[in-house]
Amino acid sequence: MPNVAFINGAFVPLADAKVSIEDRGFQFGDGIYEVIRTYHGRPFSLDAHLARLDRSARALNLTQPYSRADWTQHVLEGIKRAAYPEAKVYIQITRGVAPRDHAYSDDATPTVVMTVREFHPLDRSIQATGVDAMTTEDIRWGRCDIKSVNLLANVLARQQVKHAQVFEAILVNAGFVTEGAVSNVMVVQRGTVVTAPEGPRILSGVTRAVVLELALNEGLPVREQFVSQADLYAADEVFLTGTTVEVLAVVRIDGKTIGDGRPGPITQRLAASFTSRVG
Ligand code: PDD
Repeated sequence: MPNVAFINGAFVPLADAKVSIEDRGFQFGDGIYEVIRTYHGRPFSLDAHLARLDRSARALNLTQPYSRADWTQHVLEGIKRAAYPEAKVYIQITRGVAPRDHAYSDDATPTVVMTVREFHPLDRSIQATGVDAMTTEDIRWGRCDIKSVNLLANVLARQQVKHAQVFEAILVNAGFVTEGAVSNVMVVQRGTVVTAPEGPRILSGVTRAVVLELALNEGLPVREQFVSQADLYAADEVFLTGTTVEVLAVVRIDGKTIGDGRPGPITQRLAASFTSRVG
């Protein structure tokens, strides 16, 4: 099955999708993105992803070339063309091609790219056992709410993850947990689900919002508040949320056991409600 690419309005084979070396995405990381996955062939929470794409575009004064309705049509068309059992849709918009200069022209024409690739869900056994994570300093900039392609700090954190042979890096800013390098982080403290508040220090995860809603529906108390690194280690349960990880228990952090070293009851409950939500 072909990996599908979409570039500036046209579907082309991935190998033919080329962008100029003068693209500001390449030169400056001057662009934004979204990652959406399908369940049973349908994109999950597409509207929420497209709303966040709009917010990122507005925050960077980037012209959003398509309406939500246009995007919906392109995404559905891409998924149909790729015809994978499950797909991962990647959308990227950059400020376009211009001679290199940090300041940009207000009438720049954006470069718009989308790819649709096969998505391989995590092995169910990983969900049953939970994963190891490590902490690392959050060295990112002050607008982590913008889903920018400028991902250097995340790249370095994920490289540390690879070397440490753990699953995710939990980012710590001035002693407080912000989020994961590619996920949001939630902890359970005496029955309350606690996670960092929306704002410039975290990406407002689409999965995070779904899971908080599920928690409230389950009657679980929820608190949006930063948790210290010490409280992270001492939490009853820790779990990650994200498009690629869904709801995933973290059972060890920096070699320290969380709770009893197994996915806790609230994590399991939320993972089960998430599974029924996505059908
Ligand atoms: N990342 N925080 C960060 C820093 C992320 O990069 C992501 C997702 C999330 C979770 O957001 P969501 O629930 O909307 O997927 C949180 C994507 C998958 C990526 O960069 O590939």
